[in-house]
Amino acid sequence: MMLSGFLLLLIGFASQTLAQSQPWGQCGGIGWAGATTCTSGWTCVLSSAYYSQCLQSASTSATTTPATSTTTTTVKTTTSSSATATVTGFPASAPTVPPSKLVGQTPALGWNSWNAYGCNINEAKVVAAANQFVSLGLKAAGYQYVNIDDCWPLAARNASSKQIVPDPAKFPDGISGVATQVHALGLKLGIYSDAGTATCAGFPGSLGFESIDAATFSAWGVDYLKYDNCNIPANWSDTGTPQNNDWYNSNSAIRYRQMTAALAAQSRPFQFNLCLWGNYNVWNWGSRVGHSWRLTGDASATWSFITTAITTSVSHSATGFGAHGDMDMMEIGNGALTIQEQRTHFAAWIMLKSPILLGTDLSLLNTTQLAIIKNAELLAFHQDTTVGGPAVPFTPFSSAPTTSPPEYYVGKSSKGTHVFIINTSSAAATKSFTFANAGLGSSGTFSVHDMWAGTDLAGTYAASATFSVTVQPHDTVAYFINVL
Ligand code: GLA
Repeated sequence: MMLSGFLLLLIGFASQTLAQSQPWGQCGGIGWAGATTCTSGWTCVLSSAYYSQCLQSASTSATTTPATSTTTTTVKTTTSSSATATVTGFPASAPTVPPSKLVGQTPALGWNSWNAYGCNINEAKVVAAANQFVSLGLKAAGYQYVNIDDCWPLAARNASSKQIVPDPAKFPDGISGVATQVHALGLKLGIYSDAGTATCAGFPGSLGFESIDAATFSAWGVDYLKYDNCNIPANWSDTGTPQNNDWYNSNSAIRYRQMTAALAAQSRPFQFNLCLWGNYNVWNWGSRVGHSWRLTGDASATWSFITTAITTSVSHSATGFGAHGDMDMMEIGNGALTIQEQRTHFAAWIMLKSPILLGTDLSLLNTTQLAIIKNAELLAFHQDTTVGGPAVPFTPFSSAPTTSPPEYYVGKSSKGTHVFIINTSSAAATKSFTFANAGLGSSGTFSVHDMWAGTDLAGTYAASATFSVTVQPHDTVAYFINVL
């Protein structure tokens, strides 16, 4: 296709995604700022106060009003969402097993099928992504997990074994066949399930089947589980604040704790991602249950999503080794983000130590985008094995204006001190900081190293001196400070 035609297609796709949510996409819920209507033939369905989703219109009925929008929404009556599941996890007896220490200590680096393909997935697409990890140099850069999202199984479990069954039309070699191919490349495989009776797209959920499913995933060779939060029976939901504000003992946390324990009983170590969209105070208990926990609703390829995710992460940064706030999967390569916005998307996920799961058809990335996601210095900060915590906002000079999200961040690594500056405005702007304000002390001499370019900038500075740089609209500069 001619470049101009391709650009038009991209722009058309972007404006469509802004206006309407895509099939199986999020379309409402507390804290949701994206589209609240669905593309033709799909209906926005209330799953819980926190989550509405675009489902095929035929599977819905009964009209109601969603929690946070005025869009007409229907409630599912034909799926098992209203079913009850046996309550086995009362606080006193619920498992307290922690997540494995063998994996997930630094934030995950990988790819996930959802943002690229939604439900339209198959073995060929997943194996292609794994091969592209190798051919594009992503594996060499540290990317490891190739993750299958929703829609991989048949609608019903095996009647006798009760195991979830991979859809043979999509995965002719089963999940174990995919695992064999992914492992042969020196990579790891991730899969998706749900802590309710059905996944968000209506496939079998794991609530009540945790042991069977964990054993099945382990036998198949799976290394990572993303665990979603759709279709929760009423007796497993949280309607108010739990006693003593103890969210670790909420119904929601206990549903996830059952899976942590089931995974821990397997011979393989699993990395465990909790997908509760930043609800139920998950940042207070997530590290006791999994390696990472979603902070937001579903990502979109928009600047507003990127800034919302940064703001949320900054205010809930309970982050360290084995414990990472998940700002959701990457949109680099999708929609109409500018290159500067894609740089900020990557740099912010890096500096805040979010998992980074690429979310596009990797074969379509251009050299600029590949250079962003393979930047060795930024990835080294993200994967540092000496300092686990994220960069944090700082005041760059006295009486600096405040912005949301903050623009100036300082972070430590095994190498020393790093400064990241986001230009949140839509015009180029001069950004300034003093070395003393970046926590480098009141004496000494410093120079600045550009992490994107891998080069030292000219000039040396005293602690009280002001360093200034022009930052392009929505761009992020990333610096390492040389102590001379
Ligand atoms: C939810 C999750 C998404 C994706 C879909 C799949 O929306 O938040 O990341 O997994 O479900 O249906």
